[in-house]
Amino acid sequence: MEAACGGKGLCGKCLVRPEAEASPLTSPEKALLKEQIDQGLRLACQVELPQGGVVWIPQQSRLHQQVILTSGRVGGIELDPAVSLYSINLPGPEMDKPEAARERLFAELARKTGVELEGGFLLPVSLLRRLPDLLSQKNGPVSLALRQEREVVALRPEKGARALGLAVDLGTTTIVAYLSDLVDGRLLAVSATMNPQVPFGDDVISRISRCSEDPQALTDMSLAAVQCLNSLARDACKQAGAEPADILECVMVGNSAMHHIFLELSPASLATAPYAPLVRGAVECKARELGLELAPEAWLHWLPLKAGFVGADIIAAALAMESECLDEPTLLLDLGTNGEMVLFARGEMLACSTAAGPALEGGHIVHGMRGAPGAVAKARLSGHGRPLQLEVIGNLRPIGFCGSGLVSLLCCLLEAEMLMPSGGFDLHKAGPYLREGPDGWEFIVADRQLTGIGRELVLTSADVAEVQLAKAAIRAGAEVLMSEMGVKRLSRVLLAGAFGNYLDPREAQSLGMFPSVETSNIQGVGNAAGVGSVMALLSLGQRRRAADLAKRMGYVELSGHKLFQDLFVDNMAFPLFGEP
Ligand code: FES
Repeated sequence: MEAACGGKGLCGKCLVRPEAEASPLTSPEKALLKEQIDQGLRLACQVELPQGGVVWIPQQSRLHQQVILTSGRVGGIELDPAVSLYSINLPGPEMDKPEAARERLFAELARKTGVELEGGFLLPVSLLRRLPDLLSQKNGPVSLALRQEREVVALRPEKGARALGLAVDLGTTTIVAYLSDLVDGRLLAVSATMNPQVPFGDDVISRISRCSEDPQALTDMSLAAVQCLNSLARDACKQAGAEPADILECVMVGNSAMHHIFLELSPASLATAPYAPLVRGAVECKARELGLELAPEAWLHWLPLKAGFVGADIIAAALAMESECLDEPTLLLDLGTNGEMVLFARGEMLACSTAAGPALEGGHIVHGMRGAPGAVAKARLSGHGRPLQLEVIGNLRPIGFCGSGLVSLLCCLLEAEMLMPSGGFDLHKAGPYLREGPDGWEFIVADRQLTGIGRELVLTSADVAEVQLAKAAIRAGAEVLMSEMGVKRLSRVLLAGAFGNYLDPREAQSLGMFPSVETSNIQGVGNAAGVGSVMALLSLGQRRRAADLAKRMGYVELSGHKLFQDLFVDNMAFPLFGEP
């Protein structure tokens, strides 16, 4: 179920109605629930049922399967994977020169590959044990998988042997796994799901703080992600008619917190200044060390990080997009709780991460939610009756707003002048739809009888302020990068990730989210991080490029940056409607 704050009694999203004797109301419940208390609702992270019993979970608190963005285009790259397959026909030992089986195998391999290694190839003992069986005449040729021209990672009868690779984009909210054939580079299957760490906290900050409060949480979160990955690998293999044991290489990308938590490394240093990660360069280990159920000798490669909040995901996205960004000043943005961004100009790159907060993912918004069925994804001004027409994912009754829906809604209200550039409601124009709520004005977006939550869907003044904070942080971050690189005007803005892909560029501009740029030059580029991970899976050259890119990329720390503070304040207001 929804637990945006990770069970701290702060978000009010984990609603349940106990149908049994329950513990007394706690102070967070009294502060957060207001009229919901009369409906018998409690917070799951606060209430206790001394005798046990049944609870009913209302629609808005159920964890809905998010619409997951898996698309993206892998451009023409040269196939050069870490693992190559060889067919070996091993001659038997000679009477006058009875050479050992392993050495005969290595000699044959050297002949096939043309590689002469001083210390010889590596053959793990687990595979050495299989040699007698495999080399007996009845099995015919042997398929040998060699990693980076050095280590044998699979040894099987040739018939049916495959060399598959798994590229994984481990996002804070969703996980996408791409299964590819390492022999011909074909993408065989894509499997995606919600990140099972969501109940530990919606955003990276809640998950990091959960780890510092409870050391067991780190192990639990890592295990949850590993098990999820195993299940995605099984699913992708089923789609492709393969087995997880055919997966000989795995490449992963994700933000720095996801990276640390997955590897069960303490993420504590990411949360305190100067936000240094525990490791920055690429990490490699045997997949089985982490509990991944792939081929027993498969390797896992995590692309490098740049900084505590500029992770392997933005490095992968930059890898995928660099060739398209070289000519003109281009801003590549991955908008989530942390707006990670890279400015490309004059052949150089500069990155930063701006604390956009969770509003654009539906967090900290009274009726905010992810882009799942029931979420308002788009609003339009209607000519009659209620001022707004709502487009809802899955054509259901609305139960909340996802990020793009929220932007769309604010854009409509600004256009209708019901919302003022300051972020306050115009009491005259919006008056008929306003009511006073516990924390200020609430704009009634949909009446109780039209929603799927049994009460009105509202947009509060505090919600508007959250969006202002988010958009001001994004724009100020972008303007700091432009100032540092001496860029006066952007030619293009490329939006990676789900939110960016579903965002209407015109609406984003109406809120003043990006520096001035032609609206037609704001483009969604799909799951660019996922594309970058596939590129690094299929090509060692691309993996080296990713490492080089992480080194060449400059980095600006925005916390305490004088210009950022000023720009942030300047960008809090919305532009007058129609002005960039
Ligand atoms: S209030 Fe219970 S998870 Fe946030």
